[in-house]
Formats: sequence, C-alpha cells, structure tokens
Amino acid sequence: MEIREAIRTNGTVRAFTDDPVDDATIASILDDARFAPSGGNRQPWRVAVVADPMLRRELALLMQPVWDEYMETAAAGGNPFNVVDYVKPTEIASNKHNTLLENIESIPVVLAVAADLSKLAMMDAELDRAPVTGGASIYPFCWNLMLSARAHGLGGVMTTFLSRVEPAAAPALGLPEHHALVTTIFLGRPVHQPTKLKRNTVESFATRNRFDGPVFPE
Ligand SMILES: Cc1cc2nc3c(=O)[nH]c(=O)nc-3n(C[C@H](O)[C@H](O)[C@H](O)COP(=O)(O)O)c2cc1C
Repeated sequence: MEIREAIRTNGTVRAFTDDPVDDATIASILDDARFAPSGGNRQPWRVAVVADPMLRRELALLMQPVWDEYMETAAAGGNPFNVVDYVKPTEIASNKHNTLLENIESIPVVLAVAADLSKLAMMDAELDRAPVTGGASIYPFCWNLMLSARAHGLGGVMTTFLSRVEPAAAPALGLPEHHALVTTIFLGRPVHQPTKLKRNTVESFATRNRFDGPVFPE
C-alpha cells in the first residue's frame, strides 16, 4: 500500500474475524516496527506477545475499572485523565461495556509494549508539569507496528489503560525493573476497516512562526 494512503486511512478496528494470526505474521510486523526512530537510537521497546487466555483475562480485569473511570468522566463531559484539570469521579459504575475487554481471550493478537526507562532521554522530566518527551522514543515504534499490521491485512487499536494500573499488571507480565507499560495493542483481521477518518484541518492547528501567529497556510 502507498504510504500516504496508509497514513490517511488507518482507522481504529475493535472487532475482528475469527481468522487466527500466526506467529510468523506477528514476527514480520515486529520486524517492520523495529525500524522506528528513537532518541540516540537506543530502541527502548520490549514486546510481550500475550497468548495465554488466563493472563489476558487477568489483564482485562485490571483494565476494566480504568475503562469504567474513563467512560464515567467522558459521560459527564470531562476530559479523562488529563493532567491539567482531571478530577476522578466520586462514583463510578462498574463493568461498562467494552468489546475488547469482554472478548480478550478471542482477539487474535494482544501485545503488551513496554519501554526501558534507562534508555529514554526524558528531556522535560524536570519541568513543573507532567513529562511527555519520553514517549517520542517509543510511540513511533508503536505506530510503525500499526501501519505494518495494516499492510499485512490486519487492523487494530492501541490502548493505554493498562498503564494506569501498571503496579498491578507488572508482576503478571514479568515487567522488568525500570520499565514502563506504554500500550496494549489489539490486532486481528478487521470485520470492517474504517478508512474515512475524522480529523481536524491543518488550519485548525498550524500557525506561522509562533503558536499565536497567523493561521498556516494563509
Ligand atoms: C494513546 C491512545 C489510546 C487509545 N485508547 C483507546 C482505548 O482505550 N480504547 C479504544 O477503544 N480506543 C482507544 N484508542 C483509539 C482512539 O479512540 C482512536 O484513535 C480515535 O478515536 C480515532 O479513531 P479512528 O482512528 O477510528 O478515526 C486510543 C488511541 C490512542 C492513540
């Protein structure tokens, strides 16, 4: 697939056919993903290909309350988990519907991706706000993975809810010391591949010279 078309049409897939995805395909996708850039080319990624259904269910049970909290906040008009003004709801109804978590045993591929923090240059770690630059050395790998999955006829979704319960998930996944869980990726053959994506226009986010400059392009 042509690269611009792939970038513009790689919509999120949350429902998969029963077609299995073999290890050779998963290995091939990881083999593409590894060409991602990272600070100092330190390649901080680690991937656990989670096949064990009991382990998957354990992870789903950990993720469910995070999903519940997300949905409760979103339903009340909030921006869940943002680090500026997020307030955790006082009451959270449990077991809100989530097809990924409900069907986790039968999803063809579940990948837990971790980053070795000793290999990340966290340029903004000492600022008086939450750091984000460390992600720049790991998420290009994750998105390469998603694009490669598409090229292999697969689709899926990157999620981050496991990071919120990382201390509980770490022993289950054997997460090494000084590693962070950065995403859980679900992949499979799409029941339907969305290709018409809703995104804001360039004019809505780009300006000339300064962020308070004139809209780009004029
Ligand atoms: C960091 C990140 C976390 C996400 N977490 C979830 C998630 O927990 N559950 C989910 O169903 N989708 C998740 N998504 C997918 C987004 O909802 C999706 O990218 C967005 O709604 C745009 O949808 P589209 O790609 O189909 O246009 C996540 C995406 C990203 C990049």
